Parts: sequence; structure tokens; C-alpha cells
Amino acid sequence: MAWLYPFWIAHRGAGKQAPENTLAAFRVGQAAGFRGFECDVQLSADGVPFLLHDDTLERTTNGAGLACALDWATLQRLDAGSWLAPAFAGEPPASLAALAERAVAGDLALNLELKPSPGQSERVGTGVARWLRTHWQAPCPPLLSSFDPEALRAAHAADGGWPLALLLERWQADAPQQALALHACAVVCHHASLDAAAIAALHAQGLKALSYTVNEAAEVRRLRAAGIDGLITDQLDLRDA
Ligand code: G3P
Ligand code: MG
Repeated sequence: MAWLYPFWIAHRGAGKQAPENTLAAFRVGQAAGFRGFECDVQLSADGVPFLLHDDTLERTTNGAGLACALDWATLQRLDAGSWLAPAFAGEPPASLAALAERAVAGDLALNLELKPSPGQSERVGTGVARWLRTHWQAPCPPLLSSFDPEALRAAHAADGGWPLALLLERWQADAPQQALALHACAVVCHHASLDAAAIAALHAQGLKALSYTVNEAAEVRRLRAAGIDGLITDQLDLRDA
């Protein structure tokens, strides 16, 4: 497939300048000139896709317990902004539907990280892929990534039309083969273990190489020289590094 994604991808909406995975974060990222965004996607108990990084609600909302145990009507009433700063008080968790509207209006290119809680892999992979088929209208299809091969397999089985990426916490010699077996078009690897040889091994198989979460200029220069295809960052001012 043609590679449709910008080199720079803002992490969790827009790094750390606004509450992660909320619409406020995407607003801040867009204002800083970003078009590419990574965010974390789960399913509520009643099957609504929404954005949250953690399994539980405590760190980034005023709720408690497992997020996937609650229905969307309850989740959308939570405050997902106060934890970061009073200025964001009342900012609700974002539904994927709200983000999909923003993607149309802003021509966004999204990397949706499938982030299932334990036991939710198949449900999240299947649910998100099917939801997208019905609801996604932006020109750029979202890149679905996950650390969880089961979620990627389920997404592919539910709808083979979405581009997939395998996420890795560290480079593995058989990463290209793993990615190809999952029908992925890219590997997104933590920057610490990614080097020119690894990137060349991906390119040799026709795979793209992306890296997270790259927040230092020297690391940007190293990975650029090594041939990286895209970087996920919290630092909105790194793009000239
Ligand atoms: O998708 C890249 C990156 O977001 C993976 O780590 O923990 O920030 O979701 P995490
Ligand atoms: Mg993520």
C-alpha cells in the first residue's frame, strides 16, 4: 500500500501539553502544526470505542476501576482533564466517534493503538475494526497498531482492509517475519533498541519502520540517519531537530 502517514506523529493526542487522549490534546497538537496523531483505543462495556491509555481510570480521570467494565454513558461523564491542570477541568474522555469527526474536519492521519485490557484482545480488535468500517469517513485510513498480536489478528479477521502495525517494546530479530504473519505493513519499535540494521531488515521486507516515544533531538537525528519512516513524540517542538 502507499504510505499515507506523516513523519511526525503526536503521542496520545498531543504529548504532555494537554490531557492525553482527549479532544483538547488533539486541538493543541493541531495548533502546533501536527496532522499525525497516535492515541490509545479501548471498548466500553457496551461496545463503544473510546480513548484511554490505562486499563484503569484512576491516573487520568476522576473515575475508579477497570474502564472496560463501564458503559459509555458513565465513561463520558468523567473528568479526564483535571488530573493534568485545572484549566482542563471537565474535559471528558474522547469517543472514537468524536475523533473520527475531527479527522474529517482536519484531514488527520491517525495511528489508533489497540489497547485491550487483559482478556479483551479479541473483543477490542474485532470491535474497533468493525466500528471503523461503518463510521470512518476521513480520507486517510487509520493505522491500527498493537503490542497485542491477538488484537491485530482479530482486527484483520474482522476487516482485512485496515493497515496494521506491530508494536514492540524492544527489537527482535524475527520482527519482520512476525509483522508479515500478522498482515502488518509496519513495525513501531521503542527507540532504544532500534538501529540502522533493524530498519534495513524491515525495509528489505517492504515494511515501514516507526519509533516511539522520541523526545530528544539527538535521538531524532540518529533515527533519521538510520532511515526511520516516522516518529511518535511528546515534544511538539522537535520537528526541526
Ligand atoms: O503507540 C506507541 C506508544 O504509544 C506505545 O506506548 O504506552 O505510550 O501506549 P504507550
Ligand atoms: Mg499508545
